[in-house]
Amino acid sequence: MRIAVQSGAPWEAKVGYARAVRVGDRIVVTGTTGLTADGTPTEGAEAQARQALANIETALAKLGASTRDVIRTRMFVTDIQRDWEAIGRAHGEVFAHVRPATSMVEVSALIAPWMVVEIEAEAVVGSGAHLFIEPAAINDHAAIAALLEAAEQPVPGSDDAPVRMWVARHEGRVVGAAGLEVHRPQGLLRSVVVAPDHRRKGLGAALTQGVISAAREAGLTQLFLLTLGANDYFASHGFADIPRAGFDGPVAASRAFALHACDNATLMRRTL
Ligand SMILES: CC(C)(COP(=O)(O)OP(=O)(O)OC[C@H]1O[C@@H](n2cnc3c(N)ncnc32)[C@H](O)[C@@H]1OP(=O)(O)O)[C@@H](O)C(=O)NCCC(=O)NCCS
Repeated sequence: MRIAVQSGAPWEAKVGYARAVRVGDRIVVTGTTGLTADGTPTEGAEAQARQALANIETALAKLGASTRDVIRTRMFVTDIQRDWEAIGRAHGEVFAHVRPATSMVEVSALIAPWMVVEIEAEAVVGSGAHLFIEPAAINDHAAIAALLEAAEQPVPGSDDAPVRMWVARHEGRVVGAAGLEVHRPQGLLRSVVVAPDHRRKGLGAALTQGVISAAREAGLTQLFLLTLGANDYFASHGFADIPRAGFDGPVAASRAFALHACDNATLMRRTL
């Protein structure tokens, strides 16, 4: 079934289009601008972008969705050099925790001379994109440490070599982490952890594979890890047990090797 909603904008009847159309669980929202519901223009790129996004939100709500369900946006901007940051900021306020795919492109003009931005969106009802993996921010440290402590895993400390961390974030909350410690040409996979209520959804796999890709991109040739009981898990990601006795590769300089908790840990290696 196809459902369309109108906003009442003067162009809708003249040009023959709807504000938004829903077919099945898919919604497409027409390009919206900084026009308020009572037909008043807003001023400035950021305010226009905010209003356009609010108009998208209203259209989605009428069709049973929210901005959480948006999988794609497109921003058309008349002066991208001048306005991209302000428009991007407004977009980020709405979508920072949703992360749809997007494009921002410059166009020579929009339908009215005062308009500097037009935004369209596509959504899949109920998809609620809210879980993603990204590099950790500085202020994620406490949340990562809490996850590791709860899982009885060592927390990288200030004496350790720098660890590049990634986090899995669900609605703003850190629910998983993994880190890469570099000892060229080798790397150490550390701190792989997933919150108990988010386990068995493939997050550990996504985090592990993300570190493997990053290690490869950084030009490392081998990735190591130490584990107490997750051998089978990491074997499924291409790691194999190797003897710890006598191992003296660059990665052996890591403080993780000296940690008491790892005394009985198995050393595993994966060629990149
Ligand atoms: C290990 C861990 C990161 C896996 O996270 P996850 O997001 O649940 O993992 P995935 O969804 O990718 O994989 C889940 C599968 O791995 C299996 N698995 C999880 N931990 C395992 C372990 N220690 N040994 C063997 N298999 C394990 C699960 O049983 C599940 O198998 P199934 O798909 O057949 O049901 C998570 O269990 C965790 O945080 N554990 C505590 C911390 C830890 O041990 N970290 C390893 C550091 S050395």
